[in-house]
Amino acid sequence: MTFASAPRSRLLWSSLRHAGAAVVFLFVFVVSAPAHGAREAIASAHPLATEAGMQILKQGGTAFDAAVAVATALAVVEPYASGLGGGGFFLLHRARDGFETMIDAREVAPARAGPNTFIGADGKPDRKASLEGMRAAAIPGLPAGLVWLSEHYGKLALPTVLAPSIRLAREGFPADSRYLFVAGLRAELLRADARLARTFLEDGRPPKPGFLIRQPELAATLEALAAGGRDAFYRGAIAGRMVAAVQAGGGMWAAEDLAAYHVVEREPQRFTYRGASITCASLPSSGGLTLAESLQILERYPVPTLDPVQRTHLVVEALRRGYQDRARYLGDPDFVMVPKWLGTRAYADKRAADIDPERATPSDRLAAISEGDNTTHFSVVDAYGNRVAATLSINLPFGAGVVAGDTGVVLNDEMDDFTVAPGVPNAFGLTGGTANEVEARKRPLSSMTPVFVEDERGVLVLGTPGGSRIISMVLLAILDYVDGGNPDIDRLVSEPRYHHQYLPDEIEYEPNAFPAEWIDALRQRGYTMREGRRRWGNMQAVFVERASGEATAHSDPRGNAAAMF
Ligand code: DON
Repeated sequence: MTFASAPRSRLLWSSLRHAGAAVVFLFVFVVSAPAHGAREAIASAHPLATEAGMQILKQGGTAFDAAVAVATALAVVEPYASGLGGGGFFLLHRARDGFETMIDAREVAPARAGPNTFIGADGKPDRKASLEGMRAAAIPGLPAGLVWLSEHYGKLALPTVLAPSIRLAREGFPADSRYLFVAGLRAELLRADARLARTFLEDGRPPKPGFLIRQPELAATLEALAAGGRDAFYRGAIAGRMVAAVQAGGGMWAAEDLAAYHVVEREPQRFTYRGASITCASLPSSGGLTLAESLQILERYPVPTLDPVQRTHLVVEALRRGYQDRARYLGDPDFVMVPKWLGTRAYADKRAADIDPERATPSDRLAAISEGDNTTHFSVVDAYGNRVAATLSINLPFGAGVVAGDTGVVLNDEMDDFTVAPGVPNAFGLTGGTANEVEARKRPLSSMTPVFVEDERGVLVLGTPGGSRIISMVLLAILDYVDGGNPDIDRLVSEPRYHHQYLPDEIEYEPNAFPAEWIDALRQRGYTMREGRRRWGNMQAVFVERASGEATAHSDPRGNAAAMF
C-alpha cells in the first residue's frame, strides 16, 4: 500500500505539559479534534521532535523514516537527554511480514578500557571519572543506528529524514521550562566546558525562556552524516577531530574504535503475561529479562483482585528478585554467557517459592551475589501498521559534560553503566559483578526497555527514561494495561509510581503515591519506605485499538528530564 492510498488520517500529537504557550494551544487543539480514523501517531518528549516525525509521515515516509527524524530531532532539542554522542535501542515491527527486531545502537567501551579503568591510584574506585569528562565517554552508537534504520528499513533518503533536525540545529529551538530546569541543574558542569557554556548557557547562566539554542557545529555534523552516511561520522575528518578532542581531554578513544563500531540486530525478548504478548528490548538491555522474570513471578498470583497493599508487596518482591538476577548475571551477550534458564517460567516458579505472602524478604537474606534527564523515549506507528519504540540516551543530563571538539557532539557518560568496581553502586544505585565489568569493545548493561504489549484489545507501544527505574515503570504500565480493566492510556502514563531494585533494600515511592495507611501497612510487613524527592519518568505511549484501528498518542504529564536526582 502506498501512503497516498492509505486512509486519510488525522494526526494526533502528543506534547509536553511544560511546553510553550503556542505548543500547548496546538496540543489542546489537535487532541480535542475528533480522533476517529487516525491511523498514525507519535508520542515523544518534545513537540518539535513529534512535529519532525509528522512531517516525514506526510512526505510519504513510514514509521521507520519518522523514527529517524524524531530521534535526530530529539538529539537537537533535548541535547541533555540523547544525541549523536550517545546510543540506544530501536524496537521495530514491520507490518508487511510481521518481522520484528531490535537495533542495538548501544555505545561500546574503547579498546583501551578495562576492568581497572575507573580504579584510582589509591586502589579505590574513582566515582567521578566514569561520570564526567572524556574518560566517561564510550564510543557512540546513535549515528550508526540512525543510518542503519534509514538504509535497511526506511523508504525516504537519509538527507530527507535528517532535514528537519538540521534546520532545528542551525536555526535554533526556544528554551522551554524543561530545558531551563535541566540547564539549571547542570549549570556548573556546563560552565566548566567553554563550548558547552557558549552553546547551552546565556552569559554563563541558564538562558531566559524562549532564548534560541542554536547548534551550528552540530548542524554541520548532521549535514555530513546526511551526505556521507555512517562513514562520515566514524571515519575521516569528523572522526579525526573527535578522537583528537577526546585524547586531548585524557579520554581513551582511538580512530580504530570509531571505525570498528557496528550496530547489531538482535532478537527481541519475548514472553507473555496473563495472555498479553510482550516484545521488548533484549540484552545488552537488562529490561527484557528483568521484566520477564518479575512478571512471570507475578503471574502466579491473582494480581487484579488483590488489595493495594498486598499487590504492592508482591510487585516489590517480584522486582527484588528480578533486579537481583540483573545484578548477578546480566551483561553484554557478546561477552558473557547468560544462563539459558533466565526468563523461563520454570525459573520464575523457583524464584517465587520463597516469597512470604505477608512479609518483606530482606535483600541480604536472598542468596548472596558471588562477586562483587538523561534519556528519552518515543513511540511511532504509521497507517500501514509499522511501529517503532526507541529509547535513546547519553546517560546523565548533558552526558559527560564535554563536547567532541568543534563537532557539536555532546559525549555520553555511559561508561558508568558498567560495574566500575564490584559492589560499588553506579549513578542509579545499581551494583553488579563481573558479567558487567568494563572490557574493551564491550557494551555496558542498560535498563532501557522499549516495549510492545499486544492482546485482543490492541497494541501498546511504549517506553520511558529513568535509569534503573525504567524497568519498574514499564512493569507497572504493563500491569495497568493487562490487569486494570478498560485500557486507559492517559491513566497508565500518569499513575503514581514506586520502585524497588534489590539494592538499596527499600521501596522508593513518588511524593503522594501512597496514602499514609498503605505506607504504615507496608512498614509493618518489614519494608523500608522512602519518599522520592520528585516524581520520575517521562513515558511516551502510542495505543492502536484493534477493533477500530485507531491510533492515539499519550505523553507522561511529568515530562521529567532529571529523574535520578
Ligand atoms: O542505559 C541505561 O540504563 C541508562 N544509561 C539510562 C539513563 C537514563 O534513563 C537517565 N534518565 N533519566
